[in-house]
Amino acid sequence: MLDVLRAEIDQCDSILAEALGRRFLAAARMAAYKKECGMAVYQPEREAAVLNKLAANLKNQIYGAEIQELYQHIFQLSRRVQSRQVFSSNIVLIGFMGSGKTTLGRHLAKISGFTFYDVDRMIEQQTGQSIPNIFSMHGEKYFRAREREVIERLSTVEQAIISCGGGVVIEDANVTCLKQRGKLIWLKAEPATLLARLRHQHDRPLLKDKSLADIKSLLQERLRLYSAAADYEVTTDGKSISAIGDAILGLPFV
Ligand code: S3P
Repeated sequence: MLDVLRAEIDQCDSILAEALGRRFLAAARMAAYKKECGMAVYQPEREAAVLNKLAANLKNQIYGAEIQELYQHIFQLSRRVQSRQVFSSNIVLIGFMGSGKTTLGRHLAKISGFTFYDVDRMIEQQTGQSIPNIFSMHGEKYFRAREREVIERLSTVEQAIISCGGGVVIEDANVTCLKQRGKLIWLKAEPATLLARLRHQHDRPLLKDKSLADIKSLLQERLRLYSAAADYEVTTDGKSISAIGDAILGLPFV
């Protein structure tokens, strides 16, 4: 009995492996076509249509819920297969505090299937301390040294979306390192937009008072650095996350 069931499972696995291989290959070929036509990898309507069709096919399936859950993962992997075909570089987000790097990074990771790395969170994990604590207990110099270490660790990752802290561009070595495998995208925003986004947040030690004047003066100091480091600039004022994400994935990456 056991042998018969095992043989049945083995047979299913070989059918699945073969079908998934064909599915991913078709996805990769589709990505090449999309790239040629300038189409985005992520087509939400198409995914919804595939899921609807699947739901109809699974109506009488006892394991319909499991199969639908598995499909979410298949979609994710399929986006990665396609993004790999379209983007040969990591996508690195730079810009001032409050420019939306983390939120956008998560969104981009979801729609591209790439892995998301948040430099500030990695520093917190590495030190076991929050960013405000690192600044108040050890000072900015210590923080910059930890930031430098994390960027160095990230120099080997691939198929990645990397969201950096606002001061990453201060060190030339960070920029050189990030550029080895990535395209740097500067998320731009007006000081008033940054202030509105940061107003209720308390985790930015360099902007304790959060006045418009403070933002303007620090931003002024850094504009030249962001501009020199960036491969692309994207304006974010008044735009939705999904519109900014689509604009980034539509950039001519090579
Ligand atoms: C900093 C920005 C912060 C964080 C730290 C220093 C900066 O990251 O790295 O507080 O120098 O601009 P966010 O830009 O994600 O807020």
